[in-house]
Amino acid sequence: MKLRLSVIGTGYLGVTHAACMSSLGFEVVGVDNDESKIAKLKSGTLPFYEPGLEIFLRDQLATGRLTFSTQYSALSEADVHFLCVGTPQMESSLAADMRFVESAIKELANFVKAGALIVGKSTVPVGTAQKLQTLLASSACEAEIAWNPEFLREGFAIEDTLRPTRLVVGVTSDRAEQILREVYAQLLEIGTPWIRADLPTSELVKVAANSFLATKISFINAMAEVCEAAGGDVTVLANAIGYDPRIGHKFLQAGIGFGGGCLPKDIRAFMARAHELGANQALEFLREIDAINLRARQRVIDVVRNFLGEELKGRHISILGAAFKPESDDVRDSPALDIAAQLHAAGAVVKVHDPKAIANAQARFPNLEFSNAVADCLLESDCVLHLTEWREYRELDPGELLKLVRNPLIIDGRNCLDSKLWQEAGWKLHALGRTNP
Ligand code: UGA
Repeated sequence: MKLRLSVIGTGYLGVTHAACMSSLGFEVVGVDNDESKIAKLKSGTLPFYEPGLEIFLRDQLATGRLTFSTQYSALSEADVHFLCVGTPQMESSLAADMRFVESAIKELANFVKAGALIVGKSTVPVGTAQKLQTLLASSACEAEIAWNPEFLREGFAIEDTLRPTRLVVGVTSDRAEQILREVYAQLLEIGTPWIRADLPTSELVKVAANSFLATKISFINAMAEVCEAAGGDVTVLANAIGYDPRIGHKFLQAGIGFGGGCLPKDIRAFMARAHELGANQALEFLREIDAINLRARQRVIDVVRNFLGEELKGRHISILGAAFKPESDDVRDSPALDIAAQLHAAGAVVKVHDPKAIANAQARFPNLEFSNAVADCLLESDCVLHLTEWREYRELDPGELLKLVRNPLIIDGRNCLDSKLWQEAGWKLHALGRTNP
């Protein structure tokens, strides 16, 4: 008989995983204690924006294989449980907040059947899986723990789940590996690399991957700082070093740095965990990666002050982009909104536009002004900041926009605009890390 699956936690990761597993032919129940989220999902409405996922979700609901519930009792028949709850940063420290993982495991223990496999997908401090296995044993629950980290990117969630770069499974038995091979059989058939690891290594793979990506971004942003000081151009530098296949072109886009619900909190939680393990020196460099990243936001504000003067009170600043990256409505630790809030705090009149993230941005920063149209956002502007590289911003007509603003000055915080096009239309364009863009 085909395995029955459950997914606990219905955020980006959980909903995507549940819908994708259903598309592979499994019966899947998604469980979350957030009633409004579950009500939306049941009716085929996605509680967040992810390209293509809402239609995909509806298709899967229509097959009857995918269901959602607020009750843990709904997952009692499942053979494999995927743990997809969030592990955000604690408010009081750099460490990850493990409350959701712990409460999910306690609830699960009441309902899982003997022999079930609990597969963690959440990003957790190394050692968590072993701790959870001990916890389950002490509550006389005969389920086994495995860890199967997730590498999906927001904006590419379905693609990354059904055609992943690799599958990493942390297991303590051949049986657990066999069950996971059965779940992912179709992905193995298309040649997805399969890596069996022990529990701690599988947990570490995820934070190591995100730390490497964060390091790549901060590396190029550090080069941007040096290029600015030396009169160079970081985009040319990135292109040139990227041709070395050992370096590669990806994740070398200099600008205002990384944000979101993963990279920033993952490197901090990794440092906190290494400290507990007595390996803090090994990850000292991540402190610098974090500092370079936050400095990129400050550098934009310095550039604005260089152009408009120290006093920003009453100056009109238009911000293009609120999401932490394009093709997402996620504003968690968004560099764009951080910059917007700092300029607002300095007395500037800040207006923010975003194609998808305005509702989320407004909920987090109710004091900022938002526009639904780029033209409205730019009206009477003294300075435009391009902070999230949505495609529609690259397709803007700089000549048309010139008529709206008070001062034709644009700062490209993502190095994505066609500088010649803007300059020829009469704009002064400044780009991070480029002396003569
Ligand atoms: C990241 C990882 O890329 C995924 O592999 C991982 O599964 C996920 O975190 C997670 O832990 O769940 P995501 O947060 O969706 O995915 O976003 P990324 O595409 O990695 O971008 C992160 C940030 O880096 C964005 O703010 C983006 O604008 C910035 N970035 C990215 C740059 O500033 N420069 C670049 O060259 C690339």
